[in-house]
Amino acid sequence: MSFRVTDKLRTLLVPSTRVVVFTGAGVSAESGIATFRGAQSLWSDFRIEDYATPQAFSADPVRVWEWYNWRRREILKTGPNRGHNAICRFERYFKDFTLITQNVDGLHDQAGNRRILKLHGDIWETRCCMCGNSVIDKAEREQPLPPLCECKGKLRPGVVWFGEFLPEIVHEQAISSSKSSELFFSVGTSAQVYPAAALPSLARQHGAYVVEVNIEKTSAADYADEVLIGKSGEVLPELLEYFAAG
Ligand code: OAD
Repeated sequence: MSFRVTDKLRTLLVPSTRVVVFTGAGVSAESGIATFRGAQSLWSDFRIEDYATPQAFSADPVRVWEWYNWRRREILKTGPNRGHNAICRFERYFKDFTLITQNVDGLHDQAGNRRILKLHGDIWETRCCMCGNSVIDKAEREQPLPPLCECKGKLRPGVVWFGEFLPEIVHEQAISSSKSSELFFSVGTSAQVYPAAALPSLARQHGAYVVEVNIEKTSAADYADEVLIGKSGEVLPELLEYFAAG
């Protein structure tokens, strides 16, 4: 064991505990997907305002689409890692389990999770700016870019950009699950981007036992009862060893 599992956490690792796992880009780091912050991250190489705002898309939809096509290709080269797979086991083990993710890469779906609240959308979704019609597929968007809808509206990636609201119903469900959770894991997120980053403290205020899993402490640690330092692909599989047999 690279970390110590406290008695309190052990007692909570039973199927009847209401559990939320809240994930960020760090969960996909071991699949080779760049995180957003820190060394060799997306936002150290690209400016948010050029790629991840509605204004960027209005100003240069071709540049934005080329970037998303590149990110799609990077994700297609890889697959879920041990951390994703462990979170899938969590869903099967805990009777009341919610996965809330900020990730748009679809690797949780690929790992087998079924109940996923995607706070920042889905990179595999393409949505019309005019009629709102959306499709989910893994095909690269071909030239000419931006692709157009049958209604002639511009199609955009179905992700949430800076300055946009989170999908309302998904956000409400995330708040409600966090408030009613008894055990809340904040995994692989820098907990810097709001409103998502408010969920660990919300869970704590409503009585959840909050556990951060990260390679370093983040601001979520301020609200955490425990911080398990390590890679999610190592820490989460180790936690499975405490699941009751059968
Ligand atoms: P960040 O890139 O901000 O943070 C990634 C976190 O993962 C950091 O705290 C790392 O320490 C941690 N980490 C890295 N490798 C890890 C590993 N193997 N195991 C565990 N932890 C690891 O990513 P997010 O917090 O997801 O939003 O970023 C939040 C939002 O900001 C994203 O959804 C995206 C971004 O801009 C939008 O695009 C709207």
